Amino acid sequence: MAVWQQQIDSRITDMITRESGYPADFADALLYATVPGGKRLRPILCLAWHELFAGVDEYALDYACGIELIHSYSLVHDDMPCMDNDEYRRGKFTVHKKYGECMGLLVGDALMDLAYKYLCKPSPRCKKPPLAVTEYSNLLGGKGLICGQYYDLFGNIKDVDTLIEKVHMQKTAALISLACASGATLGVSITTEAEDSLIYSTGEDCSPIIRRDYKYLDAPCYARDFGKAFGVAFQLYDDITEYLDGENIGKTSVLNYLNLEDAKRMLNKYLNDAIKELNGYGDTSFLREFVEKFIIA
Ligand code: IPE
Ligand code: IPE
Ligand code: MG
Repeated sequence: MAVWQQQIDSRITDMITRESGYPADFADALLYATVPGGKRLRPILCLAWHELFAGVDEYALDYACGIELIHSYSLVHDDMPCMDNDEYRRGKFTVHKKYGECMGLLVGDALMDLAYKYLCKPSPRCKKPPLAVTEYSNLLGGKGLICGQYYDLFGNIKDVDTLIEKVHMQKTAALISLACASGATLGVSITTEAEDSLIYSTGEDCSPIIRRDYKYLDAPCYARDFGKAFGVAFQLYDDITEYLDGENIGKTSVLNYLNLEDAKRMLNKYLNDAIKELNGYGDTSFLREFVEKFIIA
């Protein structure tokens, strides 16, 4: 994990300072928002799923960093006064607090644009990005992240099932699921022998566009479902640890809907669901251990 974290830091730094084209002082603000980052869970999950099928290469790293840029943009905007109004993140001032609100908005916008440059880059092997652009649009927008943020702020959520479906699944799990599914898709596409036999889509209905049978065809679907279950669990874990640390719990914390014991039970159930998706493909011990770190007894 530490090696990947270091590679991610260094690659994102290059993307921003050498490849973005932004003036140096704006690039400084972009770097402030991204390096050093947080735990880098999403790109690491992407690389881990990729590695089950193929060695991690430059392209996979670029791709994983693209996902982290999306995550970073979502946090910069999420912290702004019109949203969660947070002054600190990762132990330092939030971007708008340090650079002002206009910069907060622009930094978020710029990180999203920069992300697409790498998410949509054709892979060297299959000559396409691992997911179709329409899928990014769905998972990062109307069937995922932004829609989840909408429900988080305006959803008036009445019960825990709706909370999981509308907020936790969309706000958090959609991007994590995208990271896992696209990492697996890319890894599978690299190991396949014929370039034209690739899985291209891991759509919501699990209907990949397949032109020839391949033994790992269903791997991206397992990865996607793993990502959904782990993604929900991760947001539950965040809610529960916030509560246990005595912080103010947000309006959409699971602790507004369940008592602590039931919330922990729900967390551990989703973690278990994620682990169940790991059967069948190579050595999944890294992913299993990764998930097990989030169990709260
Ligand atoms: C924070 O995500 C937002 C949530 C979905 C809870 P992370 O906890 O992954 O943030 P960093 O990147 O590690 O700081
Ligand atoms: C972060 O969510 C934003 C997204 C997941 C898009 P939260 O508001 O729950 O997380 P923190 O507490 O700011 O990290
Ligand atoms: Mg927030």
